[in-house]
Amino acid sequence: MSTKELDWGNLGFAYHVTDKRFVAYYKDGKWDEGHLTDDPMITMSEDAGVLQYSQSVFEGLKAYRTEDGHVVAFRPDLNAARMYEGAQYLEMPPFPQDRFIDAVVETVRGNLDWVPPYGSGATLYIRPYMFGISPVIGVKPADEYMFRIFCTPVGPYFKGGAKPISVRISDFDRAAPRGTGHIKAGLNYAMSLHAIVDAHNKGFAENIYLDPGTRTKIEETGGANIIFVDHDGNLVIPKSSSILPSITRRSLVDVAKTYLGLKVNEREVALSEVKGGAFTECGLCGTAAVISPVGRIDDHGEEIAFPSGMEKMGPVLTKLYDTLTGIQMGRLEAPAGWIKVIA
Ligand code: PLP
Ligand code: COI
Repeated sequence: MSTKELDWGNLGFAYHVTDKRFVAYYKDGKWDEGHLTDDPMITMSEDAGVLQYSQSVFEGLKAYRTEDGHVVAFRPDLNAARMYEGAQYLEMPPFPQDRFIDAVVETVRGNLDWVPPYGSGATLYIRPYMFGISPVIGVKPADEYMFRIFCTPVGPYFKGGAKPISVRISDFDRAAPRGTGHIKAGLNYAMSLHAIVDAHNKGFAENIYLDPGTRTKIEETGGANIIFVDHDGNLVIPKSSSILPSITRRSLVDVAKTYLGLKVNEREVALSEVKGGAFTECGLCGTAAVISPVGRIDDHGEEIAFPSGMEKMGPVLTKLYDTLTGIQMGRLEAPAGWIKVIA
């Protein structure tokens, strides 16, 4: 197979229709075998559970072309587990975790031409998702479900790549304390659309959500967890039961400790500490965001500027970024089980 002719170095975070996608169907109490299809379109009832009551969960992971020419995925077992738990939380029949991993492999193998070349800065974003497809009119779970995976080549999530971004403290809440913030449900993103459009209109790349209970603590942004570096060079990770357990963030905690010998402090982080200058660096982390440095935070006109500035990523986040991407692209040896070889 030959690689597609795309301007790999200039890809944004956008959807391209690729060759194959995986689809499996749940009916009469069981998932069918599933298969790859060429058809990117879905036909469903006007009364499908997903359309009426937003019964859907999704995942995001990436496939990388490594330095030695393989194609690998990063920790797909953790995406399988997170989707399993999210599905259970929304009363959906969870897709078996081993089959999730097999389906990721099959989908990427069906789209090998779309895996960006090593060193291009682009990767293949993989989007597994499942949703209620049969009709529901009273508020209840659907009887039938579809699980699908498509993939699309992507560049950086934020314009400007690794350039620091400006974000703002949001007036909106993302997730209730005992709500759905910890699962990757589409509904968490529906509620963020007004906030993100408004943030973009005002020149901010993302919204920082505070804990909705007290609105004094840092939670996360609409599409990524937040990490800080303190004056001792330690990594500080906001802890909350209503944020998404980011696989990137959990991996960075291990990378910080075992590869870089940093101390990691997972704890509640007050907005007042951030304003008081407790941190030298700040970043957003996630599959799409990788590590995107935050240069400043706006809190209703009050500016919080990090010493790392608006020109480049700070030194600790740079080390974390280089180590994580080094593992993902096969330049550094990965911890056991982190890399799934696909081709
Ligand atoms: N938080 C939110 C709200 C997200 O949408 C994402 C993206 O997946 C993340 C955090 C990062 O999670 P992960 O590192 O597993 O991609
Ligand atoms: C991801 O990082 O995979 C996400 O799902 C974030 C999304 C906002 C693109």
